[in-house]
Amino acid sequence: MQLLRTNVPSLRGTIQVPGDKSISHRAVMLGAIANGTTTIANFLAGEDCLSTIDCFRKMGVAITQNGTDVIVEGKGIEGLKEPTEILNVGNSGTTTRLLLGILAGCSFHACLIGDESIAKRPMARVTKPLAMMGARIDGRDGGNYTPLSIRGGHLQPIQYHSPVASAQVKSAILLAGLMTDGTTTVTEPVKSRDHTERMVRLFGGKVDVDALTVSVSGKQQLKGTNVYVPGDISSAAFFLVAGAIVPDSEIVLQNVGLNPTRTGILDVLQQMGADVAIENIRNEDTEPIGDIMIRTSALKATEIGGALIPRLIDEIPIIALLATQAEGTTIIKDAAELKVKETNRIDTVVSELRKLGAHIEATEDGMIIRGKTPLKADGVTVDSHGDHRIGMMLAVAACITEGTMSLNRPEAIAVSYPTFFEHLQILSEQK
Ligand code: S3P
Repeated sequence: MQLLRTNVPSLRGTIQVPGDKSISHRAVMLGAIANGTTTIANFLAGEDCLSTIDCFRKMGVAITQNGTDVIVEGKGIEGLKEPTEILNVGNSGTTTRLLLGILAGCSFHACLIGDESIAKRPMARVTKPLAMMGARIDGRDGGNYTPLSIRGGHLQPIQYHSPVASAQVKSAILLAGLMTDGTTTVTEPVKSRDHTERMVRLFGGKVDVDALTVSVSGKQQLKGTNVYVPGDISSAAFFLVAGAIVPDSEIVLQNVGLNPTRTGILDVLQQMGADVAIENIRNEDTEPIGDIMIRTSALKATEIGGALIPRLIDEIPIIALLATQAEGTTIIKDAAELKVKETNRIDTVVSELRKLGAHIEATEDGMIIRGKTPLKADGVTVDSHGDHRIGMMLAVAACITEGTMSLNRPEAIAVSYPTFFEHLQILSEQK
């Protein structure tokens, strides 16, 4: 349990948020199946990405990790070794689903296990298409839940129409496709983050993208490379919202990833009237990066749905808090995917923000939030429910809350942002 700082007078200063979680996972995975050495700079040394490193070490890949510097000695597309131990994915959905894609292409047996939250997350969305390609996968509920066992190899390419807009589903199939003779194609209903596509190209591979359809041909030889991981916009989002809602604030976030499939939060801030500016955009041919400045803002409500949702899916908890401080009614819809994240984020956001007096209700596929509401706590205990993004959202909520409050299970935050509380402290000390 941790006492949170409430009623923070201002947040000022410049920080660099840690490296992007999605890109860090992919750099290790593609580095492992490439030929030669890959160096990764600004790697996210959070628990999720460390789980990915651990799984690949158990398949014979030499990986040196020194803080945010990682070196991966690639084994080539057919070089992974049958693990003698169970692969533990911890809390990480990305590790589980992308790893299943790679394991589907390997002619050996492996077992996967994760934590309590992973055991509740649906895996059929990847195990079904991978089974269509020929992988033999079993687990609880016919391979829908961990623990899972997989025996891969000898796959057939597929042309898959995914029912969900999910980069994890798309990436799992593309990674399996890289290990399969012929052309594998995935079509998604709405475009999801495209880090896998961009990174395969960075490793010298070929990926074809035609609107919502992505294709790879198999048995391409990937070449080890140098990867610089941009700051994670999903981590930056907590301080973007904090800067907008805490009085007398001005925050600069440097080196943030600005891949257009991830910048929905910036569109929403602009739509709501926030004083936000993006500067110094660079590196546009691989993963665009820039600096973002935000100041305390007068906010108005908005509607969020449709194709915007995958571009901000992980930011919805913090956007819900933002909406409590906007004039009017904010509607978030088309976001049923929130129910199968680290927690059911519709339920956890609504129940925790209500403890602070927010006017927020759950709907079938999102939430409705009425603002602007001053938040109050009288010795209230809020709970991360073991979900990093719920924990950080509540710590930001505390900054604008009158009274005292504590956070249960704050350690969940280390999954994606181990230095979160240090950064909050630095920003609250500057005048
Ligand atoms: C991720 C994709 C998203 C996102 C998750 C990371 C990725 O999940 O919520 O935090 O790295 O591919 P879905 O693919 O399930 O939407």
